[in-house]
Amino acid sequence: MSKIESILTESRVFTPSEQLKRSVALTEADIAQMYAKAESDHVGFWSDLAREKLDWFKPFTVGLDDSNAPHFKWFSDGELNVSYNCIDRHLETKSDKLAIIFEADDGTVERYTYKELHDQVCRFANTLVAQGVQKGDRVVIYMPMIPQAVIAMQACARIGAIHSVVFGGFSAESLRDRIDDAGARLVITANAGCRGGKTIPLKKAVDEALEKGGDHVRKVIVFRRTKDDVAMKAGRDIDWYEAEAGMSNYHDPVMVDSEHPLFLLYTSGSTGRPKGVQHSTGGYLLNAHATCEWMFDLNEQDVFWCTADVGWITGHTYVAYGPLSVGATMLMFEGVPTYPDAGRFWQVCQDHGVTVFYTAPTAIRALMKFGSDLPSQYDLSKLRILGTVGEPINPEAWIWYYHEIGGGRCPIIDTWWQTETGAHMLAPFPITPLKPGSCTKALPGIDAAIVDEAGQALEDNEGGLLVIKKPWPSMIRTVWGDDDRYQKTYFPLMGSIKNGDSCYVVGDSAYQDEGGYFWILGRIDDVLNVSGHRLGTMEIESALVSHPQVAEAAVVGRPDDIKGEAVSAFVVLNREIPDEGAERDALIQVLRDWVAKEIGAIAKPDDIRFGTNLPKTRSGKIMRRLLKTLARGEEILQDTSTLEDPSVLEQFKKPKRL
Ligand code: PRX
Repeated sequence: MSKIESILTESRVFTPSEQLKRSVALTEADIAQMYAKAESDHVGFWSDLAREKLDWFKPFTVGLDDSNAPHFKWFSDGELNVSYNCIDRHLETKSDKLAIIFEADDGTVERYTYKELHDQVCRFANTLVAQGVQKGDRVVIYMPMIPQAVIAMQACARIGAIHSVVFGGFSAESLRDRIDDAGARLVITANAGCRGGKTIPLKKAVDEALEKGGDHVRKVIVFRRTKDDVAMKAGRDIDWYEAEAGMSNYHDPVMVDSEHPLFLLYTSGSTGRPKGVQHSTGGYLLNAHATCEWMFDLNEQDVFWCTADVGWITGHTYVAYGPLSVGATMLMFEGVPTYPDAGRFWQVCQDHGVTVFYTAPTAIRALMKFGSDLPSQYDLSKLRILGTVGEPINPEAWIWYYHEIGGGRCPIIDTWWQTETGAHMLAPFPITPLKPGSCTKALPGIDAAIVDEAGQALEDNEGGLLVIKKPWPSMIRTVWGDDDRYQKTYFPLMGSIKNGDSCYVVGDSAYQDEGGYFWILGRIDDVLNVSGHRLGTMEIESALVSHPQVAEAAVVGRPDDIKGEAVSAFVVLNREIPDEGAERDALIQVLRDWVAKEIGAIAKPDDIRFGTNLPKTRSGKIMRRLLKTLARGEEILQDTSTLEDPSVLEQFKKPKRL
C-alpha cells in the first residue's frame, strides 16, 4: 500500500475554558489517572469499571478470556440483565424522573418517567413471552423512531431475546434478507411511520418481506402509529395493544451470561451481503455506559438528544441503552431536521431544554446551508456539549456548529467509532483541547495505532491503517452465521505479526499528528459513507445488475458537499443505450427506483452513466480508480494503456446529474 496522503491542514486548537473545566464531572487529573491505570493494567481497568458501573446478578471473576483469539470474552462468568441495568436499578431514586421525552413529527409530545418506562417494558416483555419468544430467539424490529421502538428493544433485552433492528428506510427486500439471515421468530413493526409530514407504510414492507421469506417467523406484532388501515393476516399478525391486554406491569428480568448476544445489527462490508454484527451483553453495556459519562458528561439535570435513528448503531448505544444505563433524561424525535422548516432541530432543543446534543456532520452541513438566522431565533443557551458522529466533520462545519449552535462555549465531541466497535473509540472528553476535524485521541483502555499493511507502526503524519491492538469490552463478537468472515475481515494480520491475533483492523485509513491526535482519512475498502450511513458498493451493484435491462454495473463514491459522499453508478445495458433526452432520463429514474426497492432510498445512485463496457484491464479487472476520477468530473491523468477498450471512457464522461 502506498502511503496515504493527507490534504487536510488544520492548525487551530480550541482549549477548554476554566468555566467549562469547573462544570464537568471529570477533571484532568481523573482522566490522566484513567489513562495511567488502563495503560498499566488493561484488563484490570475494564474489570474495575465493569464492577463499578454495572449491576451484576452474579459477579464475574474472569476479566478477559483471550484463550481463543480473535474470539474474546469479557466478564464471561458474570450474569446480568441489560434492561435491569437501564431501568430497574434507577427506580429507587429516580422513579419519577423523566426517562424519555418524545416529540412526534407533528409536534405532539409524550413523556415517560423511569417508572412508566419500566411498566411498559415489563408489559411488553410479558407480551413477547406470551407470544412464544424465548431466551436466544431472534426478534426483528422494523419501527419508526418512536418510544415503542426502545420499549421493544428493552423488552427483548429483558427476556434475553436477541433483537435485530432494521432501519425503517430499508426496503422489503433488505428486510427479508435480514429476517432470513437472523432466522427471526417474531417481527415487531408499526402500521406506518411519520416523517416530514408524510406517512411511510412499514407493515406493508413486512408483508412483502414475509411473502417470499421469513420461514421462521411465527408472529408479527403491529403498533398502530397512525389511524391508517392496516391489513392483518389472521393467525400471524397481532395488534400491539391487543397482545398486551391483561399483561402484568412486572416482569422478572432474565439474567444472562455476560457474553449472551444482546443484539445483531446488519451493516455493509466491502464484499457480499450485509453482515450481522453480533454484540454481547456485559461488555457492550459497559462501553455504552462509560462513554455516556466520559464524552457527554451526562448528569441529573441533563436532557440528552441523540438524533440517530434506532436502526443504526448510534441509535442503539446512545438512544436505547447508554443514556438509560446512566439514568439520564433523553429526547427522542420522530421527524426530520427540515420539517416544517430548517429550524426544527433548534426549536426542539429550545422547547425541551436540551443540554447535550449529538448529531451527524451531514445534518450540520445541510442546516448550515440555511444560514445562521434560523438558529439565532431560538434560545440555545441550555446547550453545553455538542457531539458529531458518522463521518469526518470538515473544519468549516465544525466552526459553524461551534459558534452558531454552541455559542462558542460548548465543546464539539467528534466521536469516531463503528457498528462493530459498539461505542466511542476515538473521541475527546469535554475538556480535551480540540482541533476541528480531528476526533482527537483514543479513549482510556482503547489501544489505537496507525500501521502499514504488514502491521508495522508508522511515523507521525504518515497515513496508514487504523487498528485497535487490544480487545475491548464492546467489540463485535462475530458475524452472525459467518464466523469465517469475522476473522478474515477484522483480523487479517492474524499470525503475521507479533500480537496480530488481537489486532482489529478497522477498515479506515488515518494518521496521527505530532500531538498524537487522530485524523480519519476515509475507508480503505469499497464501503461508501453516504450521509453517515454505510453502503457497500457491491450491494448497489448487485441491485442494479438484478434489473432486467442491466448487464453490468460498477458503483463508486464521489465527494458531496452535504452527504459527504454521493453514489455514482456506471452501467452497461443489455440493450441499446437510449439517446439523451426523455427516454434516457426515464430509464435513469427507473433504475434509481429499482435500487430504492432493492435496498432502500438511501442507496439510490445520485448519477447514472451508460457505456457499452466498463473500463477494464485486459485481464478483466474493473479500474475503479478511473471511475472515481470520472465520477469527480476530473481529467484522467492516469495511464489508460492497459485498458481493454479506452474508448469507453469518453462514453462515461458525461454524467446525468440528478
Ligand atoms: O469510516 C468511519 C466512519 O463511519 C464508519 C462506521 O460506520 P457505521 O458502522 O455505520 O457507524 C457509524 C456510527 C458510529 C467508520 O469506519 N466514521 C464514523 N464516525 C466517524 C467516522 N469517520 C470520521 N469521523 C468520525 N467521527
